Amino acid sequence: MKFTAIAGVLLTLCTTASIAQQAAKPFLFAEKQTDALLRSTAETKASSVKANVFSPRSLNPDGSLILVAPDDWCSGFFPGNLWQLYEYSGDPKWMDQAKVFTHTMEAEKTDAHSHDVGFKVYCSVGNAYRLTHDEHYKEVIIEAAKTLSTRFNPIVGSIKSWDNRKWKYPVIIDNMMNLELLFEATKLSGDSSFYKIAVAHANTTMKNHYRADYSSYHVVDYDPETGKVLHKQTAQGYADESAWARGQAWGLYGFTMCYRETGNKVYLTQAENIAKFILNNPDLPKDLVPYWDYNDPAIPSVPRDASAAAIMASALYELSTYSTNGKLYKATADKILNSLNNNYQAPLGADKGFLLLHSTGNKPGNSEIDVPIIYADYYYLEALLRQKHLKQGKPVLNTAGVVKY
Ligand code: GLY
Repeated sequence: MKFTAIAGVLLTLCTTASIAQQAAKPFLFAEKQTDALLRSTAETKASSVKANVFSPRSLNPDGSLILVAPDDWCSGFFPGNLWQLYEYSGDPKWMDQAKVFTHTMEAEKTDAHSHDVGFKVYCSVGNAYRLTHDEHYKEVIIEAAKTLSTRFNPIVGSIKSWDNRKWKYPVIIDNMMNLELLFEATKLSGDSSFYKIAVAHANTTMKNHYRADYSSYHVVDYDPETGKVLHKQTAQGYADESAWARGQAWGLYGFTMCYRETGNKVYLTQAENIAKFILNNPDLPKDLVPYWDYNDPAIPSVPRDASAAAIMASALYELSTYSTNGKLYKATADKILNSLNNNYQAPLGADKGFLLLHSTGNKPGNSEIDVPIIYADYYYLEALLRQKHLKQGKPVLNTAGVVKY
């Protein structure tokens, strides 16, 4: 081989190696930070007066760690992060920790006090089953789906989100995310009732939550006796008629997932239209990390929501594999991850070990504004894994259990 040819081969090898190193960087960061978050979780738990708090959620204004009990809607995300680190690294250390945290979540399978049984059980036990195929987890998923199904009213055609005296039968856009548990439970049990409830809920949401421009209301309140829509409102957004950033991201992810699970093109079109609303929004910043609400009149002097960006990135990677706009969606998801990797990560060893800064939980409630929040980290890791799978020419979703990538 001539010198120039040898130099060419070496250059290609070095470039490939450096691309792989670049891709590995966010995961190496995530592993180190999560070691820190495990330590701060243990310390905070040891000094807490509340006996059942165990899972990190966010930071208090004074920088101290907020731990939550299994019944909090955010309790399942950290166990899910541990499973995702195991999926990435194959390191049994992460699986051991993931099993411990997931074990604490299992009793939530019968907690019917809100729709959040879906988030809680699917992000923890759902990942556990996906990566281990342990039959024990299968039973927990099916039981949790039964619990979620008890909140479905066929007259409304939706699952009730919250039990709250302010509303009669509130359904929030976030609830689209809980349908994944139902689809999975039908696959695991052969009982199609879960699938039918998920489809009815998605159809009702498509009909009543969406405006003509494919932005979504946060809350739709129904009359449970007649199914009539009583109010279309917000709970966590700027105004009833505004587009709360995380709500738009939940819808994008939810309808993409419904297309995956049903093959119904109506859901694909819905997801594409939601993507169009988000990506063409004049108030979406150049780095693609949205302000907390697309319609806050004080933009640009308002907080961002990195969690919405992470959910969008993960959803867009999946949508890119189904849509004729796939190239755009993939490039957009890559750009979001570049922004998060370069400008939103916590400094190594800081912020108790959370991965991302600058999420906004509930601005009107004056709660968790411009802070790290665990679900931002969950969907960030999921998006990083999806990006990695696509780079390697593998399916965006790994349902095969742990495979060495
Ligand atoms: N599901 C509640 C939230 O997104 O804040």
